[in-house]
Amino acid sequence: MRALVTGGSQGIGLATVRRFARDGGEVAVHYHRHGPAAEKVVSEIADQGGSAFSVGADLGHPEEVRELARAVAEKWDRLDVLVHNAGEYPRRSFLEGKWDDFERCLRVNVIGASELTRLLLPRLAHSRNGRIVFVSSVLASSGSRHGAHYAAAKAAVEGLARSLARELAPTVTVNVVAPGSVDTAILAGDSVTQRTARLRTIPIGRLGTANDVADAIAFLASPSASYITGATLHVNGGLRMG
Ligand SMILES: NC(=O)c1ccc[n+]([C@@H]2O[C@H](COP(=O)([O-])OP(=O)(O)OC[C@H]3O[C@@H](n4cnc5c(N)ncnc54)[C@H](OP(=O)(O)O)[C@@H]3O)[C@@H](O)[C@H]2O)c1
Repeated sequence: MRALVTGGSQGIGLATVRRFARDGGEVAVHYHRHGPAAEKVVSEIADQGGSAFSVGADLGHPEEVRELARAVAEKWDRLDVLVHNAGEYPRRSFLEGKWDDFERCLRVNVIGASELTRLLLPRLAHSRNGRIVFVSSVLASSGSRHGAHYAAAKAAVEGLARSLARELAPTVTVNVVAPGSVDTAILAGDSVTQRTARLRTIPIGRLGTANDVADAIAFLASPSASYITGATLHVNGGLRMG
């Protein structure tokens, strides 16, 4: 199995890269600012007898997205799994956000992923079990008091995924994992009070881990999920149900 994981340098993406490698997959580890972290996991996988390489790109820039697609297509004539995990969560009130902020948020969280999918479809078409998994957010359905642009971008991700699920069936399945509050760098800015308040809203009583989400991604990317497409799998400890 050959998988490209965007945002594989840390957090949920890194856990997904490790999970795929452990399951015997070859992994392309995409990163943006943390090249050394991506290189570190590539070496870790090589030391364990696996196969991986890293590629950098800012998904907010069309030429960098094209370079990323080209780098993967040059290495591999076939891609089985494409995980769109990279994302930025700019926390600001709606009133603070300007046109450019919203545009940047859309580019990084959805337009870059859309373009990357389009460019890599010929490689996915060579797979007999093509899988695309998008990482959205609980905020796409609940909304956010300090991240309207992010919530809108993640809702767009879900609409894109459902549309692709229709258009690419039966060759490729397309699904979404929507995490709740997961203990990664994205939540590092929380104060103790915010963290405590956050915990109170989660029936399971703890934040999610990157591995909790990676397990859901790995399931949707596996042969066990071959009859699932256009679905959103919520991984949020009960924070939002239904
Ligand atoms: N943690 C949560 O509570 C939570 C909840 C709901 C949804 N999510 C979603 O889960 C996904 C992973 O987030 P995480 O929690 O693991 O956060 P994270 O630790 O901050 O990781 C974000 C990843 O995205 C990459 N990235 C950021 N900006 C990028 C850009 N402009 N171009 C390309 N790559 C970029 C980063 O690359 P570098 O590190 O190399 O710069 C990093 O690998 C995101 O889509 C996020 O929106 C997270």
